[in-house]
Amino acid sequence: MSTNDSFEKNLDTLDRLIVAAEHTVFFGGAGVSTESGLADFRSTVSGLYNEKLAYGYPPEKILSQEFFDEHPDVMFEFYRTKLLKLEARPNLTHFALKWMEEKGLLSAIITQNADGLHQRAGSRRVLDLHGNVYQNTCLSCGKSHDVRTVAESTGVPRCDCGGIIRPGIVLFGQTPDAKVVFECVKEVARCDLLIAAGTSLKVSSAGRLLDPFKGKLVIINNDETALDDRADLIIRGNMGEVFSALWERLVKHYE
Ligand code: OAD
Repeated sequence: MSTNDSFEKNLDTLDRLIVAAEHTVFFGGAGVSTESGLADFRSTVSGLYNEKLAYGYPPEKILSQEFFDEHPDVMFEFYRTKLLKLEARPNLTHFALKWMEEKGLLSAIITQNADGLHQRAGSRRVLDLHGNVYQNTCLSCGKSHDVRTVAESTGVPRCDCGGIIRPGIVLFGQTPDAKVVFECVKEVARCDLLIAAGTSLKVSSAGRLLDPFKGKLVIINNDETALDDRADLIIRGNMGEVFSALWERLVKHYE
């Protein structure tokens, strides 16, 4: 069988699984947003962590709480240049997921991305496991600040009170928000189909969340992931290509 045949067959299987499922949850990562122009972290060529040094430090180190406390100026420079891409727009995958939710085919999106693109596409039940760049708070007085204040700042962005404005993203060495984690655990516990896509599934919070899951696991990614051994179905391909083929199939149930 040619690769193309197996791709089509896998898409047919996914279509059937989604239609048969009671609760489907989408668990996404940086690969969902690469087609919107945002870099992922671990892709061999273009991943942010493959830059050996950024501003003299390994990028993983820059995105840690410890580093933020010691060198906030470097962290903000990296953050504004590499992570904060306010011009990015939702892509086909974001819109397909929004449509699936509207049609009752998707219960929730759990995303490791902090880019807010699912919300901008119109999805309603989105759980930001690693925070959101649109929530920015003064570390001293707790005042909320618009994302543009951070995007347009130079050096360390400061509140009127002089405190540092901290983007609401989860850094290494920090635990994700307990309320969000609780909601994610609830969604994973009640779903019978989980689609993990555009994620290497390498960070520990993803592992902890998905390990207890006993339902059907589908992985969509153009590279191997840490949970491939556990998956019921693996679809290799680009997100846009997979979701456009899936959308075409799902839409037929409504004609
Ligand atoms: P990774 O960069 O680890 O994984 C993204 C995966 O998506 C890779 O395996 C790519 O091959 C795949 N990919 C990229 N573009 C794709 C496309 N168009 N179609 C299909 N697959 C594609 O990113 P995450 O798993 O999201 O955390 O990383 C998890 C966390 O690690 C991030 O949220 C971030 C990072 O450290 C924090 O910053 C706290």
